[in-house]
Parts: sequence; C-alpha cells; structure tokens
Amino acid sequence: MREYVVAVVGATGAVGAEMIRVLKEQKFPVKRLVPLASEKSAGRQIEYGGDEIAVKTLTHSVFGEEGVEIALFSAGGAISAEFAPSAAKAGAVVVDNTSHFRMDEDIPLVVPEVNPEDIRLWKNRGIIANPNCSTIQMVIALKPLRDLQAIERIDVATYQAVSGAGASAMNELMEQNKAVFTFGYDQIEPKKFAHKIALNLIPHIDSFVDNGFTKEELKMINETQKIFHDKIEVAATCVRVPILRGHSEAISVRFSKPIGAGEAREALKKGEHIVVIDNPDKNEYPMPILTSEKDEVFVGRIREDIYDKRTLHMWVVADNLRVGAATNAVRIAQKWIEEN
Ligand SMILES: NC(=O)c1ccc[n+]([C@@H]2O[C@H](COP(=O)([O-])OP(=O)(O)OC[C@H]3O[C@@H](n4cnc5c(N)ncnc54)[C@H](OP(=O)(O)O)[C@@H]3O)[C@@H](O)[C@H]2O)c1
Repeated sequence: MREYVVAVVGATGAVGAEMIRVLKEQKFPVKRLVPLASEKSAGRQIEYGGDEIAVKTLTHSVFGEEGVEIALFSAGGAISAEFAPSAAKAGAVVVDNTSHFRMDEDIPLVVPEVNPEDIRLWKNRGIIANPNCSTIQMVIALKPLRDLQAIERIDVATYQAVSGAGASAMNELMEQNKAVFTFGYDQIEPKKFAHKIALNLIPHIDSFVDNGFTKEELKMINETQKIFHDKIEVAATCVRVPILRGHSEAISVRFSKPIGAGEAREALKKGEHIVVIDNPDKNEYPMPILTSEKDEVFVGRIREDIYDKRTLHMWVVADNLRVGAATNAVRIAQKWIEEN
C-alpha cells in the first residue's frame, strides 16, 4: 500500500494532538509525520508509533522541503488563510479544520458519511474544508433520517464542551474548578470566555452579529445547507458548558412527511458511525462521559412531537475533538486517497 508524508499543522494543540492519535489508531498510511507549530514549540518532541519526532516551525517553504503530500491544518483561521495555499502550491492536499475556507464556493465542505462525493471538488484549490464540530455530529445523525424523508426545518440547542475553544480553555475550566473549592467563586477571573465557566453555562460562542445570532450559530445554519446541498431552515442556540470533552445537542427536526420514532430508531441503528442508546426505562441515553475518545455519534431520547406528526426530537452526543475535528479530518484524507 502506498504511504504518504503527512503534516499536522497545529500539532501541539487540542485538535492537532488528537489528529496524531487518530492517524495511528486508524492505521493511516503515514510514510513520515511532519508535526508543525509556532516557533515557540520548535524542537518539542511528539510521540508517534514509538518514535519521538521534533516539532518544526511552520513556514511557507516547509511543505516543499519536507515533500508533504497531505497537510492537516488545525492552527486557527488566520494561519490557514496564510499557509494552506502554500501547502497546496507545493503539491499537498490540505484538509483544513478552521472556519476560514468553509463557505468558499469552490472549496468542498465534507463529512465523509454524508457528502463524500464533494471531495472531488478538492482539485479546484487543493483544499478540503472540515466543518464546525457541532455541524458534523448533527449532519451525521440526520443523514439516515433525511434518506427516509426530506427535512424542512431543524431547531437545535447545543451544549458545547470547553475543548471546542482549545487546550487553554480546558486548562481554564480545570483551574476554575480547583479555585472554586480553594479560594472561593468570587476570586475567579475569566480569561478565555466572557464569563466564569465553572458552575456556569454561557449562551455565547464566537461573536454576535447584527441579527442577534452568534457566528457559531450561523456556522451551523450555513454549513448544514452547504453539506446537504439544500436550503433547509435551521435555527441554532449554541451554549458553552463546563464539560471538558463532548458536545451534546437537543435537535428537533421537521420532515416533509411523518417518520415514526420506531422507524427513525431503526434507520439510525443502520447509520454509518452512529450508535443508538435509547432505553429510558433503564436510564440509558447518550452522555459526554460515555462518548469521550470515541469515533461515533451517539443518539438517544428519540421521540415524536406531541402536536406535530412531522416533527421528531432527539439527543445527540459526540466527542468534539474526535468526531467534530480530528476523526472527520482523517476520514476525509482516507476518502481522498480512495478517490485518487
Ligand atoms: N477544538 C475543537 O473542538 C475544534 C473543532 C473543530 C475545529 N477547530 C479549529 O481548529 C483550530 C485549532 O483548534 P485547537 O482547539 O486545537 O486550538 P489550540 O489547542 O489552541 O491549538 C492551536 C495550535 O495552533 C498552533 N499555532 C498557533 N499559532 C501558530 C502559528 N503562528 N504558527 C504555527 N502554529 C501555530 C499552536 O502551536 P503552539 O503550541 O506552538 O502555539 C497549536 O498547535 C481552530 O481554528 C479551531 O477553530 C477546533
């Protein structure tokens, strides 16, 4: 089997570290791993398959010098904007985790379980975009249901873990949790979020725009429409919760014709990378503590609306660093290899 030189840009971050783990676990055909980060991390050792590999500084020329064939970017939108075109120009296919290219018309936005055929459009710019973490788990869960009936409208409320804001946000939650019991709640100063996150919920992810929604909420709307190639109505409320890993979503979805809860449950059980946990009589439903470090989307609490026969409700949980970022990126790269 052909093997590839793979660069991970942002290798020292929350998503980058997870990407390196997923590459190993999925037995991705890596000929050589090239971990890249900022100058301050240069020389830091990263463990991969029993070897220690030194992190290199990200530069425009590093992709050509290292013969990189696949570049997984996860170092922030501004870094992708500046360096992803250089990687593509040097001949690598870029899988970009940031929001920078997602809505560009000539860049495919791909969830391999949902729209793998869009990968072919990578040839336009040499770049494939990975959607937002909350969008990925929602569209994976909706795909088997959309195969039964067209979707007219989605209303979703998210409960998003702090790891969605990076490694420093995870540290902030841990530090605040400790501080609550040592110095008292009043002594905590928020840094990463607008408010304290320990013992709190913050209905605010990314910045607000003029219509009262946040950019995170608009990502869920626009990206869902782009991935499904359908102007489905979507309304989202995105909330940061004091959880380290695992985003949860309460989703209400209206179809063009009714789907019974039993029929939906059976379709979801057959869905790709979906696990149904739906036994309320035994208190069994998906929760972040069950889904951490897993590569599937977990669905439960599937029920019909009391008033509207065309609406179903469900509860969807997935590991945001895996399903919502690293695993999706690696699966995109795997599909790209199959296509080429
Ligand atoms: N966390 C999630 O669930 C998630 C999901 C989907 C997408 N994303 C996106 O993925 C990106 C990274 O997120 P994260 O959570 O992994 O953040 P993070 O933990 O803060 O990590 C950021 C990474 O970017 C690197 N970096 C920063 N500035 C750099 C520079 N000038 N040159 C080269 N590398 C630089 C950092 O390297 P140093 O250590 O050297 O500073 C680090 O490796 C963001 O755009 C985020 O929106 C995150």
